Amino acid sequence: MKYALSILLLFTFSCSSVRTVSVMKGKSRKNYEAFGSEYMIASQGGGSTTAGSKMFELGGNIVDAAVAVSFAISVERPQSTGLGGGGFLLYFSPGMTEPIAFDFREKAPLKSHSKMYLDKEGNEIPRMSLDGIFAVGVPGLVAGVLELHKKYGKLPLEKVLEPAAILAEKGFKVYPELSKALAAKASVLARFPGSKKIFFKGDDILKTGDHLAQVDLAKTIRSIAKKGARVFYKGWIAKAIVKESWRLGGLLSLKDFAKYNVKKRRPVSGTYNGKKIYSMTPPSSGGVHVIQILNTVEKLGLNHYGVHHPYSVHMTSAAMQQSFADRARYLGDMDFVKVPLKRLISKKYADSIVEGIPKERALKKEQVLAGDFKRGESDHTTHFSIMTKDGSAIVSTQTINGWFGSGVVAPGTGIVLNNEMDDFSTKVGAVNLFGAIGGQNNLVQAQKRPLSSMSPTLVFDGGKPIFAVGTPSGTRILTCVAQTILNYFEYNLPLYESVAAVRYHHQWYPDEIRVDHKGLPIETRTLLEKMGYKINRKNLGCRVQAVAMERNELHGVSDPRGEGMSLGK
Ligand code: GLY
Repeated sequence: MKYALSILLLFTFSCSSVRTVSVMKGKSRKNYEAFGSEYMIASQGGGSTTAGSKMFELGGNIVDAAVAVSFAISVERPQSTGLGGGGFLLYFSPGMTEPIAFDFREKAPLKSHSKMYLDKEGNEIPRMSLDGIFAVGVPGLVAGVLELHKKYGKLPLEKVLEPAAILAEKGFKVYPELSKALAAKASVLARFPGSKKIFFKGDDILKTGDHLAQVDLAKTIRSIAKKGARVFYKGWIAKAIVKESWRLGGLLSLKDFAKYNVKKRRPVSGTYNGKKIYSMTPPSSGGVHVIQILNTVEKLGLNHYGVHHPYSVHMTSAAMQQSFADRARYLGDMDFVKVPLKRLISKKYADSIVEGIPKERALKKEQVLAGDFKRGESDHTTHFSIMTKDGSAIVSTQTINGWFGSGVVAPGTGIVLNNEMDDFSTKVGAVNLFGAIGGQNNLVQAQKRPLSSMSPTLVFDGGKPIFAVGTPSGTRILTCVAQTILNYFEYNLPLYESVAAVRYHHQWYPDEIRVDHKGLPIETRTLLEKMGYKINRKNLGCRVQAVAMERNELHGVSDPRGEGMSLGK
């Protein structure tokens, strides 16, 4: 009772004491922040941002730039994404009524089924959905990105893919983030000859400063540039991957590749204080829960308190908890299961969530139940955002799931295959790589797409895109995206601080607020602990890439926590 009173008093009277923003200082702003009047690109790699910029210099359009970045980042961040993975992309150009969402998420192979990761007793077989050939979903990235280019690109594909081919052929020095991922996955990569050939020097895994060239990948990219997606899905690349799958006893077949299809979907949409939000719809849970979190806190006047005030962190964390409870129960591929989408993103539901949050104490995980509608996943992954002065925008999050995905490279291709099958529920109630609870709607089914958290998001004002944002890092993606939007539009922080501010994450299970290493202000942490929250200082792994249109000027920020780059003109 005494605590409850002091908490209420603090909420009411002393908000000024914790108004300061805790910001990750990182290195200097150089490379991370840029301004321009014609175009702006923020991505997780200098070579990739430069590849996109080259397309504009050659007279190409935003689509050419996005395709060039997609292929180059596959080379520059083989631990995070690649031609053996998949992703989502939102594209808007003036004249469209709303953005188009491209879904090129991996699909479960035709021979897969809901019990494929269980032993005879019904127990999960450790790491089967994570390492090796059974972890691999049918890749969608090449189909998705090339379909976008075919319809909307301007430059010939060979020109667009050439920077990626050159980067792969000439190679680059292993940088610290790549070295960390290589060390962590060395034992898995060593099991597969195709992977060992690329990422080892003799028996030693490559380290920071070593040279990484990917000559097979360069050959593969040039083959795709010349022959298009067909060579990946029906030609020598599909054959090489299926041959390796057979050798390893896996499920992938030529039919899986021939049947792969990109889906064009309507993005999920909502509003925040009059601004329109568009984000990725299922099979990603990302957009649904970004909108749900924003709806939940919209009417609370958090700006009055400040970004790291205990009340702001408490209410936003409670909104996150509810989203993850709903995610586990309802979300899945809507081509296969029913998801109460409209109700999850309704303002009415958000009001009922706010009513259920006690103002003076943390909700325990048992107290957070999924909404009752009667019927009814760092440094992994990558994201880039691009905007141009004519009002076009592209946001795309792409992935092979965990670091180096399954660890399998089919010899001769240079392509690291994903482990996206782990994003399915291997069993109801089991947790995935990111600790997210798996539900019935997300069980494995042939041809289904696994649930994702990827949240490429665009914010519109007066029918025009003014903000493009996204990030890697599994289930933390959606909370990092929601917080960046709140930092910019609710707390009115400048763009750099909106990206650099310390972030937190609550995903219901585990029952804790995970906070970036720098941590929250001491007053906030102390009070939240008194309210019953467990605070865990552990980096979230998000690397937000944001572009904003500010008074006719394009402003880009690549997260100073990472090794990315913003570049504009
Ligand atoms: N593989 C991470 C995600 O799709 O959310």
